[in-house]
Amino acid sequence: MTAGPRPFGVLNIRSVIVCHCNAVSDRRILAEAGLGACTVEDITSRCAAGGDCGRCIPRIEQVLSIRSGRTLSPTVLSTAS
Ligand code: FES
Repeated sequence: MTAGPRPFGVLNIRSVIVCHCNAVSDRRILAEAGLGACTVEDITSRCAAGGDCGRCIPRIEQVLSIRSGRTLSPTVLSTAS
């Protein structure tokens, strides 16, 4: 079977690596949030994201806030890279 374009109407949702030190994706963070993680510390203890260099912490916060429906301050969003 060859890979080709997906049929119209089929979502092509991709995962994005949020924590490069530990290869943790946004989907993994969302899954952990679904299991009760609600802070960066929770996420770090469950899958190590954010536990090394810490550069992904703003992104982890962003994923958690999107899931919870909170909005982040512009400062947090502008420092997330
Ligand atoms: S990128 Fe997540 S700890 Fe370094």
